[in-house]
Amino acid sequence: MNNSGSVTRVHLNIQRVNCTFVPYSPFPFVSMLEVLSRVLSPFCGWISLLFLITAFIYWLGVSEFALISHVPLPGPEPWPYFGNLIEVARYGGLHKAFVEYAKKYGKVYKMYMGRSPMITVADPEMLKHILVKDFDKFRNRPDFMRSNPPLESNLFAARDDQWKKVRSLLTPTFSSSKLREILPIIEDAANVLVGKFEKSADNEKSIDVLSLFRLFSLDVILRAGFGLDAQVQTDPDPEMVEKALTVLETPVYVRALSMFPFYKQVKEFFDLDLAQHSPYFIALSQSILEKRKISSSSRRDLFQLMLEAREENAEGTQKLTDEEIVAQSVLFLIAGSETNGTTMAFFAFYLAHHPDVQEKLLREIDHATRSRGDTPIGEFVQSLQYLDRVVSEGLRHSSVGFGDVRQCMETCVINGVEFPEGVSVNIPAYAIHRDPDYWPEPEKFDPDRFLPEEVEKRPSFCYLPFGLGPKQCIGIRMALLELKIGLVKILRRFKFERGVGTTEKLELQSGIILTFLKPVFVKLVKRSQDD
Ligand code: HEM
Repeated sequence: MNNSGSVTRVHLNIQRVNCTFVPYSPFPFVSMLEVLSRVLSPFCGWISLLFLITAFIYWLGVSEFALISHVPLPGPEPWPYFGNLIEVARYGGLHKAFVEYAKKYGKVYKMYMGRSPMITVADPEMLKHILVKDFDKFRNRPDFMRSNPPLESNLFAARDDQWKKVRSLLTPTFSSSKLREILPIIEDAANVLVGKFEKSADNEKSIDVLSLFRLFSLDVILRAGFGLDAQVQTDPDPEMVEKALTVLETPVYVRALSMFPFYKQVKEFFDLDLAQHSPYFIALSQSILEKRKISSSSRRDLFQLMLEAREENAEGTQKLTDEEIVAQSVLFLIAGSETNGTTMAFFAFYLAHHPDVQEKLLREIDHATRSRGDTPIGEFVQSLQYLDRVVSEGLRHSSVGFGDVRQCMETCVINGVEFPEGVSVNIPAYAIHRDPDYWPEPEKFDPDRFLPEEVEKRPSFCYLPFGLGPKQCIGIRMALLELKIGLVKILRRFKFERGVGTTEKLELQSGIILTFLKPVFVKLVKRSQDD
């Protein structure tokens, strides 16, 4: 009994040990998995599902990277979904990241804006192809810049034949002769600005020039683009001003959403747009259009010019539709207000910090005013050569339009680099304007870089504050007139100086355009006869 009992116990022990297999198995890992799978078998379905979902979510975050994975270019390593955006934020914004990336990776490199692969090109020779010679292959801006109806036909977002049609119908509206008709609007708005400066000058404390210039530009564009005399500089409607001045402040959640798949569908469903408050300005524009259709206006503004262009073109097959006119007027507000206001504030800052440049400019303006002050203001400002150099250098240094984008519509090779169909091409204007190969001591503010003999030394595609080629800014002439008339009107009466509270260092942020993080303070001094 004893014996048999003991044998039985030993047998049982052996069975128990064999059952676990642990000390004897030549493949312990496999054995462990087997045990694990038995323990977890009731949950197996869920775990596999979870694994599949995780793998799918990861794949969605990286799948688009494949578009350029075979293109042998340097560039920063991307994260799923975020691409290089975390690193960009660490650099302090896209404008700064492009400068740093140029130092690390050169003039052509690949990077990822969230899930979207992008090839950045800062090489003037290649830009000549992308922007002009091979325009047809890069004729559109990328999908993520599309607007929702009814704004989808605005020139910035329109694609292919619709862009061609709208651009060719709008081009005459921005010709020198047509712009001459809206000069009185710019001049009048500049006079109101000077009147406001009158009240703030000779105060020891610096004033917030950014706010004043933003209202000045908004005034011009509301009058010129919408035909709306909203008195925004003197007696503003707070709601309208608030909406107009924040139109380019894309909410963070909209920017964040753009990293995720199905962004386009979500954007359309919830009517989200990179520009805020569009419905407000669409309604405003529609009501103006209806009024103008009932009784034509004697006003000379972009709205009227667009309507007249439609009449003039009545015989032709192509005309601007009501929807297209509304979309353009809203775009003019978006594209033409903050850009100008911000650039003017940069100018005030540069002049206050470079008294030598300002003195030379004042001498030129004074001399010209004495000898031909009664010349129409448009011609007068065009004749000032040093002013032109100051404005050109200001536009280079500020680079409010810090980056342009195109989409490659057809796989092609330029200078040995393959651009796959669908890839976004980034043109980092701010970084190109700081490339020491073309701009020695790039941070220095030096208008003489634009002396004709200096311009000749540079390649032609390294200066692009308004973009270049058929898709460049349609408002260049208007913007330059506004900047120059504004400056001349101010500098005939005042000068900018450093004083108590003057901004010493600009803090910038890159959104749709480059803007200031904080107000810009500059001291304003009334000029005396001897100045
Ligand atoms: C300092 C002022 C301005 C700056 C720096 C500026 C800059 C730019 C830049 C960089 C582009 C993109 C060009 C490209 O992709 O190659 C652009 C496009 C555009 N801008 Fe301006 N802009 C200014 C003022 C204006 C004004 C006053 C208007 C009109 C009232 C305007 C209307 C437009 C339009 C409609 C486009 C799209 C053109 C197209 O795609 O065909 N801009 N601008």
